[in-house]
Amino acid sequence: MSALQPVRGTRDLFFRDAELYTRIADLARQMARLYGYSEVYLPIFEYTEVFARTLGETSDVVNKEMYTFEDKGGRSLTLRPEFTASIARSIISNGLYSRLPLRLFTAGPLFRYEKPQKGRYRQFNQINFEVLGLHSHVVDAEMIALAKNILDALQLDDCILELNSLGDITSRASYTVALCEYLSKYEAELSEDSQMRLKKNPLRILDSKSENDQKLLKDAPTLQNYLSKESKLFFDGLLKNLDIIGIKYVINDKIVRGLDYYTDTVFEFITNRLGAQGTVLAGGRYDGLFSIMGNKNVPAVGFAGGIDRLMALCDENYQDKPKGFINVFTLDPAYSSYGLDVALMLREANIPTILDDVRDIGKAIKKALENNAKFIVFIGESEVSKKVVKLKNLDTREELELPISQLMSEIKKYEF
Ligand code: HAM
Repeated sequence: MSALQPVRGTRDLFFRDAELYTRIADLARQMARLYGYSEVYLPIFEYTEVFARTLGETSDVVNKEMYTFEDKGGRSLTLRPEFTASIARSIISNGLYSRLPLRLFTAGPLFRYEKPQKGRYRQFNQINFEVLGLHSHVVDAEMIALAKNILDALQLDDCILELNSLGDITSRASYTVALCEYLSKYEAELSEDSQMRLKKNPLRILDSKSENDQKLLKDAPTLQNYLSKESKLFFDGLLKNLDIIGIKYVINDKIVRGLDYYTDTVFEFITNRLGAQGTVLAGGRYDGLFSIMGNKNVPAVGFAGGIDRLMALCDENYQDKPKGFINVFTLDPAYSSYGLDVALMLREANIPTILDDVRDIGKAIKKALENNAKFIVFIGESEVSKKVVKLKNLDTREELELPISQLMSEIKKYEF
């Protein structure tokens, strides 16, 4: 029955996967604190307009990938495909202009109707960082440093930083004219997608996956030659800062990003370990987004990391949590109140404890090992009558009979 399977492109995370997810989200949260970000929690759905106008009407996300539905009141709503537009909306609707500049962090699930494959899901997860209200290449450099810190903390030093400048709105406009002029000579030879983009969003042709398109682009005008004086100074400033803080990069003038709100800095951390879905962390500056939303302009920069892709990269090296549980077993339900007392006492001392009832000692040991337990406490008839417990160390297999009062001092010799 298909209803009992997870929906295509979604997955359940258990055990080691769930731990790895939490570890990555916690690390990002810690890094956010270190860099002075506040955490925000936003709704999972928004009015469709929040995304449709801002991400670009010709972008793949808006065109093909949004989970859009009408609610019972006839409103068009969309499950968030990304965080940035929601964050901008939240600044406007909460009247936070007077609190700018703001550094905001958020994490959680997002939804895109894409073709599922390794590293690409329909429900996926991001860690997301935004700085709103500042236009400075120092802020961009710090943003990139934060992203690099996360990769380093996860020991993912094989990710390469690629960056580019898309220029400000004027630079982009004059470059778009030049690119269209050049490409229209080859229109018939371009891939179908690129022919469509030539009319609607020519810059996206630059990151076309078609080999022939890339051949045709070899002699195309380059964006760098069309940057305004301000954009050029901004980009040079960023590169200088990255050199000063020792972050290596490759300039890739083909990076345009799939969402339309970017201006000036764009960057991606890329790996070759995930096949076609190699972009792990990505973002850039979006100084025009608030004006697209019809509001007072706010310069901003940010990036998001794909938690699912980070998980896939960390998977091989990830060490399970060290054993840290105590499994208390009552050998008959008649001893459950004795068991409850012992478990409560252990938890009061901050020792993670699972209480179970089991008849068979062999099964109890198997269960405890599955639970990642370090010790077992057995409570049977003789323990209850003597007011003791039997403590079994699962590493050494040693057993001790102890009065309850001594259980704590024995266990406290170990780390949990
Ligand atoms: P994005 O490039 O669309 O940017 O997504 C950022 C990252 O999310 C990707 O590099 C990838 O790791 C992960 N990702 C995207 N789609 C999927 C998917 N279907 N399955 C698994 N992982 C995925 C943004 O979303 C921008 N809002 C980033 C940003 C923040 N720019 C400025 N601020």
